[in-house]
Amino acid sequence: HTLDRINVAIDGPAGAGKSTVARMVAQELSYIYVDTGAMYRAVTWYMLREGIKPEDHDNVLQTVRNMVIELIPGKDTQSVMINGEDATPHIRTLQVSGMVSQYAKVECIRTRLSQLQREMALAKGVVMDGRDIGTTVLPDAEVKIFMTATVEERALRRYKELKDKEQVSLKQLENDIAQRDFLDQNREISPLRRAEDSVLLDTTSMDILQVVETIVSHCRSYARGE
Ligand code: DC
Repeated sequence: HTLDRINVAIDGPAGAGKSTVARMVAQELSYIYVDTGAMYRAVTWYMLREGIKPEDHDNVLQTVRNMVIELIPGKDTQSVMINGEDATPHIRTLQVSGMVSQYAKVECIRTRLSQLQREMALAKGVVMDGRDIGTTVLPDAEVKIFMTATVEERALRRYKELKDKEQVSLKQLENDIAQRDFLDQNREISPLRRAEDSVLLDTTSMDILQVVETIVSHCRSYARGE
């Protein structure tokens, strides 16, 4: 039987596998998947291309205010459009990954993106992944999951994903991930932290299907009123 429409928040550090899992959970429940990291990445790509530094406050504010940001759902991935331009092919490069934390800590960027994310979840039936979904964006989400894995395991997963596309070493990825964890956890505005009412899922020795199953079963038990 079909599930009542609820919202599912999936948070956790970089490389925990959130986006793959969130996409599959959404598919399983016939919900909409919202990748909020892709939104921060797209804004970062755009700012970098326009030569706007994160500390250039007036320029950032002006740009983010006028920006048209659209998420277009696709079959496997969703596209992020900025002012009508498709940012998707550019958002997973090492350059954007290396700079995204700097832009993600800017208050006016967070305010604007959080607002958009809340609008997307108004009708419910959304699986949203990010860092601050259960704590700040959707504090009333019916199901909240906090996914983690060790730094080594997360670096290994990224490595397998990237090794054919970019020149990377496992050690470099470990450093990048540890650095990004630190910045994401220590920024002033909505830092990455586990919501008290979230389910903690350590995925270090779980495969993707097990993680998806676990989350879907939490959704089903919520729907049964358990
Ligand atoms: O999940 P990801 O690696 O694509 O996220 C990219 C960056 O965006 C990450 O370093 C932290 C930031 N981010 C955030 O601050 N808040 C979110 N809700 C999602 C991502």
